[in-house]
Amino acid sequence: MGFSTFSIVFKITICLFSFSFPFLFGSSNAQLNATFYASTCPNVSSIVRGVIQQTLQSDPRIGASLLRLHFHDCFVNGCDGSILLDDSSNIQSEKKAAPNSNSIRGFDIIDSIKTAVENSCSGVVSCADILAIAAEASVSLAGGPSWNVLMGRRDSTTANQAGANTSIPSPSEGLTNITTKFSNLGLNITDLVALSGAHTFGRAQCRTFASRLYNFSGTGNPDPTLNSTYLSTLQQACPQNGNGSVLTNLDQNTADSFDNNYFSNLQTNQGLLQSDQELFSTNGSASIAIVNSFSSNQTTFFENFVQAMIIMGNISPLTGSNGEIRSDCKKVNGASSSNVRMDQ
Ligand code: HEM
Ligand SMILES: *[C@@H]1O[C@H](CO)[C@@H](O)[C@H](O)[C@H]1NC(C)=O
Ligand SMILES: *[C@@H]1O[C@H](CO)[C@@H](O)[C@H](O)[C@H]1NC(C)=O
Ligand SMILES: *[C@@H]1O[C@H](CO)[C@@H](O)[C@H](O)[C@H]1NC(C)=O
Ligand SMILES: *[C@@H]1O[C@H](CO)[C@@H](O)[C@H](O)[C@H]1NC(C)=O
Ligand SMILES: *[C@@H]1O[C@H](CO)[C@@H](O)[C@H](O)[C@H]1NC(C)=O
Ligand SMILES: *[C@@H]1O[C@H](CO)[C@@H](O)[C@H](O)[C@H]1NC(C)=O
Ligand SMILES: *[C@@H]1O[C@H](CO)[C@@H](O)[C@H](O)[C@H]1NC(C)=O
Ligand SMILES: *[C@@H]1O[C@H](CO)[C@@H](O)[C@H](O)[C@H]1NC(C)=O
Ligand SMILES: *[C@@H]1O[C@H](CO)[C@@H](O)[C@H](O)[C@H]1NC(C)=O
Ligand SMILES: *[C@@H]1O[C@H](CO)[C@@H](O)[C@H](O)[C@H]1NC(C)=O
Repeated sequence: MGFSTFSIVFKITICLFSFSFPFLFGSSNAQLNATFYASTCPNVSSIVRGVIQQTLQSDPRIGASLLRLHFHDCFVNGCDGSILLDDSSNIQSEKKAAPNSNSIRGFDIIDSIKTAVENSCSGVVSCADILAIAAEASVSLAGGPSWNVLMGRRDSTTANQAGANTSIPSPSEGLTNITTKFSNLGLNITDLVALSGAHTFGRAQCRTFASRLYNFSGTGNPDPTLNSTYLSTLQQACPQNGNGSVLTNLDQNTADSFDNNYFSNLQTNQGLLQSDQELFSTNGSASIAIVNSFSSNQTTFFENFVQAMIIMGNISPLTGSNGEIRSDCKKVNGASSSNVRMDQ
């Protein structure tokens, strides 16, 4: 089945400073680590992986959807599970933010995973960590790299819908703007190119790239960086003024596997989203050489992807006694379900 076991062991030297001055740090400054649940929930990773493996049999897209959930969680107030909260009297759900609405999916599976984890070790594992563990399992089950996931995140008691509207990149805002959004969070151009490689699996709706197919930037013509053969295929799948919700594979050649074909697609002008193709077609950009290097060597891509996932997973986690361990990923502990906002 073309499954390649690919394990990368990363040596992480995180404790040097806090080792020397532990008294300077409260427990809220604790670092994430790979053995956080070693005594309290030793089997958490295989429980998460098991539910995803089962679900993949009926939904080959679910791994891609779960990886994207972790990304959209981390880019808004850090990796704190905020994306999972539903609307309530004091929560404006991030699910209704522009980049997520009618697009992000996988919440039911997160609930199934949470239930399975709670059945083994109740009240211990955060929803934010479940997203991080699910992202790794999803990549690895699709043939991508495996890595040691750092854990110890806690869950937010708030959401930030306005932040989700502004922090998550849009496919048409241009490489310069997207690069800025990533660097604001400590992710450089290598990380941006590597993480964009996540578009090696999963689907996109016609509306997310339709502007490239007929009248690009008001020119009256399609995006000139779109391969003409691929253009015809996409125009058939997405007729002008047709149904914008129709789905297309992000990687037309190997739709559900995690491999480096995404980067060879960019080299032949077959990137689906404007933001994908710009990584290769923006004259003079440092991203071009990175695309070429990931295209020519899958190991290089995998190593850089893992490194970038760890950096992304480390964005402003709640640790120590900050936040909480939600018992239901959809709501803050103690919130009643009767005060759901009826006004939206
Ligand atoms: C670089 C800026 C990025 C932009 C502009 C972007 C934009 C998008 C868009 C528009 C879609 C299609 C959504 C839809 O049609 O409903 C999508 C899908 C997806 N994105 Fe990104 N994305 C970016 C980066 C990332 C990153 C960093 C990751 C993860 C590491 C990621 C993972 C995915 C996955 C796996 C899918 C498919 C999801 C599914 O099938 O459910 N993306 N992205
Ligand atoms: C992992 O982090 C937790 C919380 O900060 C800490 O109690 C534990 O000792 C750490 N484990 C290692 C191996 O550093
Ligand atoms: C851990 O979970 C996996 C999958 O759910 C299961 O196959 C395995 O037996 C479990 N191991 C332990 C020690 O509970
Ligand atoms: C976020 O964007 C959505 C969709 O455009 C909009 O309905 C919502 O009001 C925005 N939320 C905030 C808090 O700006
Ligand atoms: C890029 O960001 C700037 C500043 O936020 C904004 O004014 C501009 O419209 C953005 N460009 C695109 C193409 O969205
Ligand atoms: C991006 O950051 C990584 C370390 O996190 C570093 O190895 C790499 O050289 C950086 N790349 C660029 C282009 O600055
Ligand atoms: C393309 O879009 C521009 C600006 O929105 C518009 O003026 C023009 O008429 C359109 N051209 C065609 C061929 O639809
Ligand atoms: C548009 O396409 C989506 C996805 O295939 C489908 O669920 C929906 O029913 C379609 N809507 C219309 C009006 O055809
Ligand atoms: C367009 O894609 C085909 C493969 O379908 C490839 O052979 C060709 O070189 C591509 N053209 C360009 C200009 O990249
Ligand atoms: C990049 O440069 C080439 C050669 O000068 C030019 O043909 C092409 O249109 C440029 N691409 C873009 C996207 O500006
Ligand atoms: C691919 O990259 C890896 C790691 O960067 C390196 O060890 C390996 O030699 C490279 N393979 C080839 C064929 O260049």
